[in-house]
Amino acid sequence: MAPMILRSFLLFSFVCFYSGLDDVVKGLECQSNPNNPARVWYTLNVRPPVRHESNSNLTIKRESGKLVYTSIQAAIDSIPDGNDKWIQIFVQIGSYWEKINLNKSCILLEGRYAQKTLIEFNAHQNTLESATFTSVAENFVAKHITFVNTHNYNLFGRGLRNQNANANHVTQAVAAMIHGDKSAFYSCGFFGVQDTLWDSQGRHYFKNCYIDGAVDFIMGNGQSIYDECIIRVLGNSISASGGVGYITAQSRSSDEDPSGFVFKGGVVEGNGKAWLGRAWGSHSRVIFNGTYFNDIIVPEGWSPWEFENDPVKHFTYTDQNSEGPGNDTSRRHFNTSLTDQQMQQFTDLSYIDAEGWISNHP
Ligand SMILES: *[C@@H]1O[C@H](CO)[C@@H](O)[C@H](O)[C@H]1NC(C)=O
Ligand SMILES: *[C@@H]1O[C@H](CO)[C@@H](O)[C@H](O)[C@H]1NC(C)=O
Ligand SMILES: *[C@@H]1O[C@H](CO)[C@@H](O)[C@H](O)[C@H]1NC(C)=O
Ligand SMILES: *[C@@H]1O[C@H](CO)[C@@H](O)[C@H](O)[C@H]1NC(C)=O
Ligand SMILES: *[C@@H]1O[C@H](CO)[C@@H](O)[C@H](O)[C@H]1NC(C)=O
Repeated sequence: MAPMILRSFLLFSFVCFYSGLDDVVKGLECQSNPNNPARVWYTLNVRPPVRHESNSNLTIKRESGKLVYTSIQAAIDSIPDGNDKWIQIFVQIGSYWEKINLNKSCILLEGRYAQKTLIEFNAHQNTLESATFTSVAENFVAKHITFVNTHNYNLFGRGLRNQNANANHVTQAVAAMIHGDKSAFYSCGFFGVQDTLWDSQGRHYFKNCYIDGAVDFIMGNGQSIYDECIIRVLGNSISASGGVGYITAQSRSSDEDPSGFVFKGGVVEGNGKAWLGRAWGSHSRVIFNGTYFNDIIVPEGWSPWEFENDPVKHFTYTDQNSEGPGNDTSRRHFNTSLTDQQMQQFTDLSYIDAEGWISNHP
């Protein structure tokens, strides 16, 4: 595998083909339903399709007369454009083999157990189009859902859908790409190997989530807090290429760029070895505070990647107050020392939520 070359291609393709996605669906101000404890106006129910149903028949009528969708996309598509009322899409336990484009605002996508509520697909032709779940909408909430890109899977026995997976040929295969502002994820899972979670742009909050992968598996230009999340490095899945992965690839590009990935507490575990991050932008910013690190962290911590030759480096990279066997910062290549007060500017919710959008979400 040649991640450097692949990334250059990615940057190129990003510039060439990406402009369409800049048309983020604006969230307006989403209205809550004061008469409903869940604060939503109505609920669309989705249950997994059963084998004999054709994929084209996306809705069924139950005996009770209640409309039930057998695809999440069909439920999304039933919501009017310009929606500004919170709507719940309730996803029953099961596996949904779908590639989803969320382009309606004010949606709460909710399952019951993340471990048993999986949205899966295996696209990998190019990074941009590979995401199993793409959100271009503002004001989005997901709870208890797992997003999976199965493409690189059977490298490490997690699934067997892709019989052709080859440990020498891990490719970018995004599980979720989050492109809309004001998006929050509670107890969600993100499964992949390379580029699992494309935290692309906007302000995002991840609470009690599980994210795994091996190469750049939390990447992008998001302005995000990862609160008590479990990050699992799947180094074994890239053992053919040395087994040393990269947890983050954050792409902040200037002093004015507000983006950054902030990890509060949580755990970094797994197998093989991993760098905490490599710079996908000249001002890449990744901050860990109070995280438990297993012994898989490369002691140097941070890689300048394509900015190695820049005479002055503008990264903000730090892991402070860490615990566990990977907590030693004495050999880190970059080590921004933040005072408690400076640290607080990032770990406080106000970093992503000055106006209180999180508390207005259902
Ligand atoms: C889809 O399901 C409905 C309800 O069961 C049924 O009436 C309809 O004929 C089905 N359509 C197709 C194309 O199978
Ligand atoms: C939303 O996405 C669906 C599925 O990709 C597509 O059919 C529809 O045209 C899109 N709507 C808008 C307003 O972009
Ligand atoms: C930091 O790592 C060292 C070396 O493994 C270990 O002895 C120490 O207990 C760790 N500190 C904390 C707070 O976990
Ligand atoms: C990195 O910073 C921490 C405190 O923030 C300090 O204990 C450690 O010695 C520093 N490491 C290097 C290599 O400067
Ligand atoms: C940083 O982490 C330490 C250890 O978990 C915690 O005590 C401290 O409050 C955190 N600081 C900030 C600013 O969040």
